[in-house]
Amino acid sequence: MKLWAGRFSKEIDKKTNDFNSSISFDSRMYREDIEGSIAHAQMLGECGIIEKSESEAIANGLKSILDDIENGNLKIDPDAEDIHTFIEGELTKRLGSTGKRLHTARSRNDQVAVDIRLYLKKEVRNIYSAVKELANVICGKAEEYAYAVMPGYTHLQRAQPITFGHHLMAYAEMLLRDIDRLECAYKRMDQMPLGCGALATTTYPIDRTVTASLLGFSGICQNSLDGVSDRDFCMELASVLSIIMVHLSRFSEEIIMWCSWEFKFVELDDAFSTGSSIMPQKKNPDIAELVRGKSGRVFGDLMTLLTVMKGIALAYNKDMQEDKEAVFDAVDTVKMCLEAFTPMIETMRVIPENMRKAAANGFINATDCADYLVKKGLPFRDAYKATGTLVAFCIEKGLTLETLPIEEYKKVCDMFDEGVYDAISLENCVNGRKVLGGPSGANVVEQAKRVKELLKAQGSL
Ligand code: ARG
Repeated sequence: MKLWAGRFSKEIDKKTNDFNSSISFDSRMYREDIEGSIAHAQMLGECGIIEKSESEAIANGLKSILDDIENGNLKIDPDAEDIHTFIEGELTKRLGSTGKRLHTARSRNDQVAVDIRLYLKKEVRNIYSAVKELANVICGKAEEYAYAVMPGYTHLQRAQPITFGHHLMAYAEMLLRDIDRLECAYKRMDQMPLGCGALATTTYPIDRTVTASLLGFSGICQNSLDGVSDRDFCMELASVLSIIMVHLSRFSEEIIMWCSWEFKFVELDDAFSTGSSIMPQKKNPDIAELVRGKSGRVFGDLMTLLTVMKGIALAYNKDMQEDKEAVFDAVDTVKMCLEAFTPMIETMRVIPENMRKAAANGFINATDCADYLVKKGLPFRDAYKATGTLVAFCIEKGLTLETLPIEEYKKVCDMFDEGVYDAISLENCVNGRKVLGGPSGANVVEQAKRVKELLKAQGSL
C-alpha cells in the first residue's frame, strides 16, 4: 500500500514500482533515517504538537526497528518505495495510529535531505581520517628517504637531482589541501534541512533549533526551497573526491613506472601485488592500476551529479533521487582506494641504489655545471651554452660530466678548474638546494616534521 493511497484508485504497476523505487540504494541510510525521525518526534513532543507519551513511544519504536535491522530480525523490503516509507510503515505496523503521527510537519523531501547530509557527514569524517593517515605514512617514508638522491623529471626526461623524500612530500602537500577541502565541504553540508517540509515549511509551531541540536548540526538551512532542493553539498563532495582521485591516480602511475624493470625504484610488497596466470616471472602493481582506473568512476559520479541538477526548477523533483547512487559510489570508491593504497605505500620497498644509478646518468647536474660558471662571473646564457657543448661531447664519447677530464672542460671554457667536480656532485647539487621548498635532505626532514605536526594539530572532524 502506497503512502498516497487515498488519492489513487489503483496499485502502481510492478515495473513502474521498480523503476520508481530507491530502496535498493537508499536502504544504506536506515540509521540516519531513524536518527532523523527520532529527533523529529522528540521535537514534536517538546513543542506540544504531539503528546509527550506518543513522542516517546515513537522514539522507542524506532529504536527497536533499528535494533531489529542490525541484528537481522527485520529485513528491509526490496519492494518498498524507499527507506523512509519502509521505516514509517514498519513503525505503524508496530505502534498503530501513534506511528502515523510521526510524519506530522514533515515531508520526505526534508527527510531525505537530512538523511543524506547525516550519512555524508559520517563518511566525510571517515575519509578525512583516511587521507590524514595516508599523508602521515607518506611523511614517514619521506623522512626515511630524505637523503636518497633520485632524478627529478620534467616531460619524463631526467631533469635535475632531487631526493625521494622530496618527491614523496609533493604528494603530502597535495593531500594537505585535499584535507582542507574536505573540511570545507563538511562545513557547508553541516546545515539542517528538517522543517523545510515539502518546500514551504509548515504551519505547525515546530522548533528547528531543537532538531538541529539533537542531530548535531552546526547550522540550519535558512531557506526552505533551498534546503530541500539543492544538492551542492553532494556536488562539492564529489569534486573534492575527484581531486583526491587525481592525486592518487598520478601517484599510482608513478608507482607503476617505478615498479617496472626499466626503473626498479621500488618493489611492492607481495601482499599488495598480483601475479600472472601465464607468465611466472610477473609481479604486477594491480592495486595501483585499479586506483588509477577507479578515478574514472569518481569523475563520472561528479558529472552525473552536475548533469542531474543543472536543469531542474525549484524545489524538489524526482530527478534528485539520482543523487544517491552517484555520491555513494564516489564515497565508496575513494574509501576503498585509500584502504588499499595506504598500506601499499607503507609496505613498499624502496631501492635507493637504483634511484642513485638513474640519477648518475642523464646529465641532471648540467644546470649545476652552468651555475658553477655563473658563480665565477660568466653570464648564465654563455654558461648554458658551454655546458651544452660539454654534454654533447660527453654523449659522443660515452662519458658523464663526472668522468670528463678537466682538460676537456678547459678546452670549452678556461674558467673551469678542479672545483667543478665538487660543484656537480649529485649530493652537493641536491643538498645545496636548501631554498624554502627545495629538495635538500635537511629540508625534507623539516617538511615532513612540519606536515606531521599540522596533521596532528588538525585532530579529527
Ligand atoms: N526517494 C526519494 C529521493 O531519494 C525520497 C524523496 C521523495 N519525495 C517525493 N516527493 N517523491 O529523492
